[in-house]
Amino acid sequence: MLYEWVNALKEDLATNAPNGPWVAALATVDELGRPHARSVVCRRVGEDGSIFFFSDARSQKNQQLRHRPDAEAVFWISGRRTQYRLTGRVEIQSDPDSAERAAFWFQLSDASRALFFWPEPGKPLEADASFPAAIPETSAAPPTFEVLILRTHQVERLEISPQPHRRTRWRADRAWTREPLNP
Ligand SMILES: Cc1cc2nc3c(=O)[nH]c(=O)nc-3n(C[C@H](O)[C@H](O)[C@H](O)COP(=O)(O)O)c2cc1C
Repeated sequence: MLYEWVNALKEDLATNAPNGPWVAALATVDELGRPHARSVVCRRVGEDGSIFFFSDARSQKNQQLRHRPDAEAVFWISGRRTQYRLTGRVEIQSDPDSAERAAFWFQLSDASRALFFWPEPGKPLEADASFPAAIPETSAAPPTFEVLILRTHQVERLEISPQPHRRTRWRADRAWTREPLNP
């Protein structure tokens, strides 16, 4: 049985964008405690509320998460005028023997696989750098391909259609029971 909030999030995402992409803002913290947020595509919402993203091992976010796994992901579901804010810690899946990681790699488009063969993200652009446009599924996942798994421990949903707005919290340490809050 799905938790109430997982069911609601999945339904809202699917209704709002049946064919995706489901884009979240993922916020991390660097070594100096400064926040960094960026858009990422949500690849899967697990039954336990884990949220799966793909990212380059060389990117700032992955480096920040290796140092400090605390993170928040925010979804804005425009069609439902609803925001979900998921708080948790990110586990990085980089094991070359992981069947799940290999399956995720396989399901990517050729164009998306190619990004993991581009030069190091965020470094100065070099004139002779090569940016492949497509990588076939027969090519094994490179070490740059990492799966970020947000292990959610708290969720807040804010619905702004009702008057007054409706704010609801669920926390793992409260057995995911629903807590209505002031908006
Ligand atoms: C719509 C959209 C979707 C994106 N999806 C991803 C993604 O799934 N994974 C990813 O690593 N970066 C994605 N990006 C790029 C990130 O927003 C970001 O620019 C990049 O990952 C570098 O961020 P970092 O230096 O903080 O790691 C996406 C950007 C946009 C505009």
